Amino acid sequence: MPTTLDIDEDALHAAKESAVLEKTTAAAEEETVRMESTIRSATADDAQAVCDIYNHYALNTVITFDEQPLASAELRRQILESSESLPWLVFEDHGDILGYAYAGKWKSRCAYRFSVETTVYLAPQCTGRGIGSALYEALISDLRAASRHSAIAGIALPNPASIALHEELGFAKVAHFKEVGWKFDRWIDVGYWELLL
Ligand SMILES: CC(C)(COP(=O)(O)OP(=O)(O)OC[C@H]1O[C@@H](n2cnc3c(N)ncnc32)[C@H](O)[C@@H]1OP(=O)(O)O)[C@@H](O)C(=O)NCCC(=O)NCCS
Repeated sequence: MPTTLDIDEDALHAAKESAVLEKTTAAAEEETVRMESTIRSATADDAQAVCDIYNHYALNTVITFDEQPLASAELRRQILESSESLPWLVFEDHGDILGYAYAGKWKSRCAYRFSVETTVYLAPQCTGRGIGSALYEALISDLRAASRHSAIAGIALPNPASIALHEELGFAKVAHFKEVGWKFDRWIDVGYWELLL
């Protein structure tokens, strides 16, 4: 068995230096990853990626009440139309769109003009990593900057991840509609959560 006396001091020094180098490289890589992830306003060119994310939930889950896939042209129209007056954000990582969040009118009548409906969707393999919180925080910050007053989110139930996200950011449950949706041969409740901005 080697003793402490058997340790080659030069080798030990070299190993320490190499560990420091590895640590520095890992930190630099982490920084690069962080810098290559960004939240930015959506453009019409993001429509296909947004469409792919949304259609997964339309076709396979009760999270949205659409039952048919949307065409990317429809998403393109929505992005162009709503992003003129309200935030429409995407989370981009190394050129891939991993999720999006946007605000739309809550209702069209004039006195509702300071209220918005907010929505967030991530690619299914990207959930549970803080991306939803980052997108929603950015959305809320943009809404505050735009002097909006009330943000409202409808959540088809159950959806523990969405409830946790909304409540983490200060939304409180204000309404519960029973059996207002019918999808995949069952009735679905919808809850509403509101945040006064
Ligand atoms: C809902 C959604 C946007 C949340 O984003 P996310 O990146 O997965 O969530 P985050 O990692 O930022 O976590 C936010 C909070 O939710 C909690 N959470 C995340 N996934 C959860 C789950 N499956 N069950 C319970 N809580 C969960 C986190 O612990 C965190 O709370 P904390 O900060 O108090 O610990 C994302 O899961 C998603 O896109 N889901 C499918 C589409 C959807 O449901 N959209 C909402 C429509 S209303």
